[in-house]
Amino acid sequence: MSIVFLNGDFLPRSEAKLSVDERGFFFGDGVYEVTRAVHGHIFEPDRHVRRLERGLRELRLDPRITMDALLDVHLQLLRENALEGGQATIYLQITRGAAPRTHHFPPAGTPPTIFVSATAFTPPNEARARGVAAVTYPDYRWSRCDLKTVNLLPAVMAKQHAADNGAFESIFVRGSALTEGSHTNAFGVIEGELRTYPNCNYILPGVTRDVVVEIAHELGYRVSETPIFVHELARLEEFFVTGTTSDVMPVVTLDAKSVGKGTPGPITMTLYQALAARLAAVAAGSAAP
Ligand code: PDD
Repeated sequence: MSIVFLNGDFLPRSEAKLSVDERGFFFGDGVYEVTRAVHGHIFEPDRHVRRLERGLRELRLDPRITMDALLDVHLQLLRENALEGGQATIYLQITRGAAPRTHHFPPAGTPPTIFVSATAFTPPNEARARGVAAVTYPDYRWSRCDLKTVNLLPAVMAKQHAADNGAFESIFVRGSALTEGSHTNAFGVIEGELRTYPNCNYILPGVTRDVVVEIAHELGYRVSETPIFVHELARLEEFFVTGTTSDVMPVVTLDAKSVGKGTPGPITMTLYQALAARLAAVAAGSAAP
């Protein structure tokens, strides 16, 4: 039985109970983070903290806990669940707490709900070796996709659409542009140039996306934060998605059509190897190379 953190307590998962007045349940009134841990070390903690702090600020939600204390909770959960020897993901959710249902904020003094759990994680390396299928899906999400809120219904519908079609991921299309995946950011290579949707209100500023863009610059690739348009899909030489639970995942078919040669592309796999090296450096307890 795993140990989770709920509102100040570490307790067995089966004993962690939420109120039916929880605003996360009524309204999706909260934010979350998913972080990766390798051998007891968190990958890119500062980037996750910055995104979380920004989300809390935009939602006007006071977590009443410091970011350092939250990171300590992450590390303690890895210890309590004997996850320091391998890989894990840590899920954190902070909501505006439990109070009788009103759309406006609950009375001042209502404590937020803070939940954190850690789970063993196996990177999807077999799928990566083959490459995966993706399908496109209409991006009918709101215009604050930059906030990592727990309102994930469009992501649920999109990922189910992928599952129904035997695909790993759905890629949202807004107007005529590919924005991002249901739980990943999306990149393509056209004429040797790496393209990804610009960081703005229509995508989540992915931590993995940031790191991959940084690595691509370091490796000397041409990088353009410009949307990939539907009319350009036939010109894609490579396509991949990035995320905390996907790393860099090559997409070899898009809407059942082969991308490039139909195998994981060379730029994609070079970026994956460089990201894997950064994860390994974190595991060894050193700074990023
Ligand atoms: N999802 N875009 C969306 C819509 C996401 O939900 C995610 C992450 C990403 C990738 O962000 P990052 O590289 O920081 O993981 C992009 C998490 C993993 C999830 O919902 O489980």
